[in-house]
Amino acid sequence: MTWIAMVESNLTGSGFQALAAAHALGCDVLFLTRSPQLYLSRPGVAPLFERYVGEVVTVDTDDINALEEKLRPMMPGLRGVVTFGEYAVISTAAVARRLGLPGPDPDAVRRARNKDEFRSICRRSGLPTPRYAVLSELDAVAAAVAAVGLPCVVKPVDESASVGVRACFDLAEVTDTVAGLLAAPANSRGQARTSRVLIEECLVGPEVSVEIIAAGTEVVVLGVTDKVLAGMPAFVEVGHTFPSGLALELVEACGAAAVNAVRAVGLTDCVAHVELKVTADGPRLIELNARPAGDRICDLVRLATGIDVITAALRIGVGLAVDCSARKSGAAAIRFLTPVPGRVRRIRGLEIACTVPGVVDVVVSVTEGSEIGQLRNSHRRAGHVVAEADTAYAASHAAQTASALILVETDVEARSGDLMLEGPEQ
Ligand SMILES: Nc1ncnc2c1ncn2[C@@H]1O[C@H](COP(=O)(O)OP(=O)(O)OP(=O)(O)O)[C@@H](O)[C@H]1O
Ligand SMILES: [Mg+2]
Repeated sequence: MTWIAMVESNLTGSGFQALAAAHALGCDVLFLTRSPQLYLSRPGVAPLFERYVGEVVTVDTDDINALEEKLRPMMPGLRGVVTFGEYAVISTAAVARRLGLPGPDPDAVRRARNKDEFRSICRRSGLPTPRYAVLSELDAVAAAVAAVGLPCVVKPVDESASVGVRACFDLAEVTDTVAGLLAAPANSRGQARTSRVLIEECLVGPEVSVEIIAAGTEVVVLGVTDKVLAGMPAFVEVGHTFPSGLALELVEACGAAAVNAVRAVGLTDCVAHVELKVTADGPRLIELNARPAGDRICDLVRLATGIDVITAALRIGVGLAVDCSARKSGAAAIRFLTPVPGRVRRIRGLEIACTVPGVVDVVVSVTEGSEIGQLRNSHRRAGHVVAEADTAYAASHAAQTASALILVETDVEARSGDLMLEGPEQ
């Protein structure tokens, strides 16, 4: 039996899809996590583990020695160690390196993962980046805001899914937000929090991501994804469309900036996902992830181009060659469900949403009785619709149309609906 080890996962799909993909590569999966329940409690995940995971190992996945201790006895049957979760990218690369298995340089991964280190690399390498300041104490806020300007974006250096990222419009808001981040002892995955916070110029313009395969030292752009954001003062991705509908020269400029970023941090032998804002002054880098995109963007790329990014990431992880050439030129889009906050009372419209031409996947991830909070990060979304079509416009239109047909009705919404029926106040 040959094994592939997967360390933790994201919660948005590609990590779970990778279990079946690893199986298809002829590998049994050893899944290492500090909390199996984080995954097994999610709808539909337990059967996937049952079917595709040979063994679940509970271990502190931030502890490279502990990971090595679990994995070394499996050599030489262990062919690779991979992760689809942002929080485990550094320890995964580090243990793969110790075991002599394929994968990126752990130092390069750390330069991408730590957002302040990434900003500093961008600045040193002359890459397009926002004005920013890094601080570790509240006393430094006023000077940082004076240097960066208002409005600004305050963010932790070690999160994902937009957790803790927020726009601030005045000094008091910045001070409150920084104080909250500095006071938290751990990030949302329970990892010890670094004592650093970023304050960045608020970039304005369409947001995109560039999907990349760094096969060996060759850096290949698979395409560019357009995003829809919501949730101000938070920034929550509520839609993605692949390929981008931006002008070709902008798409190429984004691709070039992303490739330069991958090279500047020194990433090789991995899949990468680079986020940018296209400002009036051109593309500006937001962040670089040394792993495949979450949010089903891998599905969009596969539907649009035929390139299976998830399998590509696994193949790179076990040292096999990957084919980065597109086999078709279609389009695909995802729209997330963002119901009015409150307790879910009824869910309707799924059947008609599925009949919208082009729709290939409809998922509602909440159930009656679930509590839906304010849209503050990606975990607050309530499901999604994926559609494919010949053009990006048609795909995003189909996904939008279908998602609008799904009614996740909350008690708050039901109350305001009743008020509406009463008509305007006299
Ligand atoms: N300097 C900035 N100017 C404007 N918007 C920003 C800036 N930095 C971040 N954002 C917005 O906040 C979102 C989340 O920021 P970032 O990508 O740094 O955090 P994250 O937690 O890694 O997010 P995710 O995992 O969802 O990609 C970005 O996608 C973008 O919309
Ligand atoms: Mg991001």
